Amino acid sequence: MIIDQQEISKQLKNFILEIKKQERADSHLITVLHKAQELNGYLSKEIMDLVAEEMQIPTSVIWGVATFYHYFKLSPIGKYNISVCMGTACYVKGANEVLETVKELLDIKIGETTKDMIFSLQEARCIGACGLAPVVMINDKIYGELNPKKITDIINDLKKQAQEE
Ligand code: FES
Repeated sequence: MIIDQQEISKQLKNFILEIKKQERADSHLITVLHKAQELNGYLSKEIMDLVAEEMQIPTSVIWGVATFYHYFKLSPIGKYNISVCMGTACYVKGANEVLETVKELLDIKIGETTKDMIFSLQEARCIGACGLAPVVMINDKIYGELNPKKITDIINDLKKQAQEE
């Protein structure tokens, strides 16, 4: 379900209202930011300003928390969110070559999204599939035992799919 900005603001304000009924509401900032990201897809400046105003916390504090945790996204995410696992098991099995291949193919760095909004690239710690190392997660799907050739084929397939839609 796609909801518009007004509806996102309304839902987020209601969520914050509930949080504010609790003691030490400011200690729930991370919960609020999680909710904001769940609703909006990422933490835009407007969303952070809204949280700051509603929770009466300086924007600089919100910004500090949002940038400290890798989980929080500060820019929009593409249709396919690629997370390359750089945990130890994946790293020793060639995750770096896989990562470099993705960067080169899409011409983006970690934390960036392609201009056409199709792909975003992230680095992940162990995602619990070490037996399949090196692994990449694309949205909710895990791809294992990768090498530069395999990841190239996967990305080319996704590019094709995106063009056909
Ligand atoms: S280190 Fe990559 S899945 Fe565990």
